[in-house]
Amino acid sequence: MDHFELRNGVLHAEDVPVPAIAQAVGTPVYIYSRATLTRHARVFLEGLAALPKKHVAFAVKSNPNVAVLRVLAREGLGADVVSGGEMERALAAGVAPEGIVFSGVGKTAAEMLRGLEAGIGQFNLESEEEGVELAQIAAAHGFTARAALRVNPDVDAETHGKISTGKAENKFGVPFDRAAGIYGRLAALPGIEMRGLAVHIGSQLAKLDPLEAAFVRMGELMREVRAQGDAITHMDLGGGVGVPYKAGEVFPSPAEYGAMVARVTADWDVTLMFEPGRVISGNAGVLVTQVVRVKPGVSAPFVIVDAAMNDLARPALYDAWHDFIAAEPNGATMVANIVGPICETSDTFAMGRTIDAVGPGDLAVFRTAGAYGATMANTYNSRALVPEVMVDGDKWAIVAERIQPATILAAEQVPDWLD
Ligand code: LLP
Repeated sequence: MDHFELRNGVLHAEDVPVPAIAQAVGTPVYIYSRATLTRHARVFLEGLAALPKKHVAFAVKSNPNVAVLRVLAREGLGADVVSGGEMERALAAGVAPEGIVFSGVGKTAAEMLRGLEAGIGQFNLESEEEGVELAQIAAAHGFTARAALRVNPDVDAETHGKISTGKAENKFGVPFDRAAGIYGRLAALPGIEMRGLAVHIGSQLAKLDPLEAAFVRMGELMREVRAQGDAITHMDLGGGVGVPYKAGEVFPSPAEYGAMVARVTADWDVTLMFEPGRVISGNAGVLVTQVVRVKPGVSAPFVIVDAAMNDLARPALYDAWHDFIAAEPNGATMVANIVGPICETSDTFAMGRTIDAVGPGDLAVFRTAGAYGATMANTYNSRALVPEVMVDGDKWAIVAERIQPATILAAEQVPDWLD
C-alpha cells in the first residue's frame, strides 16, 4: 500500500499533485511519501510483534537520503550501513549510534575506527581477517568492538543472480563449515566482543522458503557455537523480503515473514536483528519524468522520457520492471517502448509495454522507485544528479537538490602541464 494515487484524474503524492512538484522542481525528480515510509516501518514492526527481543536496522543502501533516514529513525528504526559515508548519514539523521550495524565486505581500517569512536552497536564481520584487524584497532584505541560473524549459508535465494548473496560462490560471509572455528578464535581476542551470527541471502525474495532454510541452518550453527563454549546473544537475519513491482504479483507479507521467524527462532533466546531495505522504502517513492518526444519504431513507438538509466538503473542492470503511469491519464492506452536519452541501448525502461497514452510534454512516473533508485543514480552522459522531494500530507520540500553538470564540471581541472 502506498500514498500515490489519482484524485480527480491527477496523480497525487499524499495530498500534493505530482504536476505541481514537477513544475516547481523540474524533471526528472524522485518523490517520497512520508506516510508510506511510516506505514511500512510500522507494518514491518507489527509483523515482528511476537518476538520478545528485536532490533530493526533499515538498510541505508536502499535509500540513504537523510530526510528518509530521519523519518525512519523517528519510527524507532536503527540503520544497517555498509560504508563510512552511510554511517555518517545515519548519524546525521539522528539514528542512535548503538542502533547502527556496520555490514559490508570491505570495511577499511579508517571506517572501523570511526565506527568505534562513534560507538556503533555492531560490526558484521565478513571474514576472520577482518575480525582480527577490527580487534587490533579496537584494542589499540581502548575500545571493545561488538561484533557478529556473517555466515554464508549456501542457500539459493531464488532471486536475480546479481542480487543473490547466500550461495557458497558469492563473496559474502565466511563458509558455513568454517564459521564455528572462526567465531571461537575471534571470541578469544582482546578488543572484540563476539555476540552473534549474521546472515543475508539476497534481495527481492519472492518466497519465504529460502529464508527459512537459511535461518534453520543458522540455528544449527548457533547451537554448535554455544556448545563449544562461546556466547551468542544476537542473531542478525538480514533483509531481503521482496515487494511487488507489477500488478498482481504476490509477495510474503511482513506478518507472514514474522510468523515464520517466530516459529524458527522460538527457542533461540537471542535479540533478533533485521536489515530490511526495499520492503520499507520501495513503494514509498516514485520517479517523475516528462516525455520529451515520441518517435516511430519498427513495431512500437519509442516514448523518449527525460529520465534515464543514470537516474533509475534497475531496468538496465537487472531487467527490472517499474510500472509507468501518466500523471494525468486520459483513459486511452498505447503500446510503446519507453526509453531514456542516454546513448546506449540498455537505457530502456520497457519494450512493447501497454501504457497510459502519453505524448510530448506529458508527465508520468515510474512507480516503486523508492528503493535502489536515487541511491544508485549517477551522472553518466554528463547529466544532472537527480533531485529528491519528500511529501508529508499537503507539505513538500526538496530533500536533495539537483546537482547540475556545471557543479560537477567545476570540480574538475586541466593541469597546466597538459597543454
Ligand atoms: N543487508 C545486507 C547485508 C544487504 O546486502 C542488503 C542488500 C540488505 C540488508 C537489504 O536488502 P533488502 O531488504 O533491500 O532486499 N540494487 C539491487 C539490490 C541490492 C541489494 C543489496 N543488499 C536492486 O536494485 O534490486
